[in-house]
Amino acid sequence: MTLLFEPLEIRGIRIKNRIAAPPMASLSSTKTGLPTADTLDNYIPLSESGAGIAIIEHHAVHAEGRTRLRQLLLDRDEVIPYQEDLAGLFSGKGVPALAQISHAGSFIVDEDILENGWLPKAPSPIRHPLSNLFLMPVKMSESDISQIPGLFSEAARRALRAGYSGVEIHAAHGYLLGQFLSPMTNRRSDAYGGPVKNRARLLFEVYEAVRYTLGDEPVVAVRLGMADTLPEAEPSGQTVDDARWVASEFSSMKLDLLDLSGNMCGYNGEGEAWFAPYCRTVKDAAGKVPTICTGGIKKAETALGLLERRECDLVGVGRALKSDPDLIRKWKALE
Ligand SMILES: Cc1cc2nc3c(=O)[nH]c(=O)nc-3n(C[C@H](O)[C@H](O)[C@H](O)COP(=O)(O)O)c2cc1C
Repeated sequence: MTLLFEPLEIRGIRIKNRIAAPPMASLSSTKTGLPTADTLDNYIPLSESGAGIAIIEHHAVHAEGRTRLRQLLLDRDEVIPYQEDLAGLFSGKGVPALAQISHAGSFIVDEDILENGWLPKAPSPIRHPLSNLFLMPVKMSESDISQIPGLFSEAARRALRAGYSGVEIHAAHGYLLGQFLSPMTNRRSDAYGGPVKNRARLLFEVYEAVRYTLGDEPVVAVRLGMADTLPEAEPSGQTVDDARWVASEFSSMKLDLLDLSGNMCGYNGEGEAWFAPYCRTVKDAAGKVPTICTGGIKKAETALGLLERRECDLVGVGRALKSDPDLIRKWKALE
């Protein structure tokens, strides 16, 4: 088990073991995106679970970038003092925590977000394959696209002021940056559509804006949706080769951390560690950038096997840790 409990340092921040708590939306905010007592109660067990690093659920960078009504927002400075309590739960326990920052684009889940005929914007006017709302989004103009990096970098600045160790840019699970990456939702013929270097352009612009705004110290991670289909399925849409290319670019940019999951296929699969075949090949392309592999990891042997085979540097344990906050202590006791 030793490898599971080996520390790792990222940008001078010590992660005491190889177990990451992945972002899991708690749907507990006020309608104005502020954390509530329920949000804090939700995170107390996680902050005490012994995870080496925690990534805190998706925070929308703008009210028009929400997928759910009860989603946390980092869209204005007023949220900072409320967020301090949430970030403080983790810093108080010496656990590095990143705030995940996101824009939903056309992936709207809660109908209540749609008011007065407002329609979401997306790379192309294509109904989102994962949304049950059957909405036709408005195609983003180049001017709309140019606003996005600033929204992310301002949200990142607020997260840092609230006391997080850094941020994670959400480019997975079919949200806006995933919509740009996926040929299923991106049919543009300009500099943001077509080959993967164009589909990934906005993601790189967002990353560069966030890194520039935060300066050198904080951790900047990216959650990358590796493909639109699961490893055992016939490839369609965005492929893992696209993700390998994105990872190699991030390696040149010296990204701090690459958190790997699915894109339009979401985050669910069959069995255990269902993204492992993708994680292995994307890690190869990511060079020195540490990677997290998440999805169906429930047992210590599975987690350890991934690390021993060098398929990732950290394992993400979501639902198993949520349902048993003593899990890491139990794994430690097996040593
Ligand atoms: C209730 C729930 C909420 C989630 N919220 C987020 C989220 O806010 N951001 C994100 O990137 N992934 C989210 N995920 C995906 C998880 O981070 C993780 O990738 C997924 O649960 C697979 O890991 P697991 O099998 O260990 O739970 C969520 C998953 C669940 C079950």
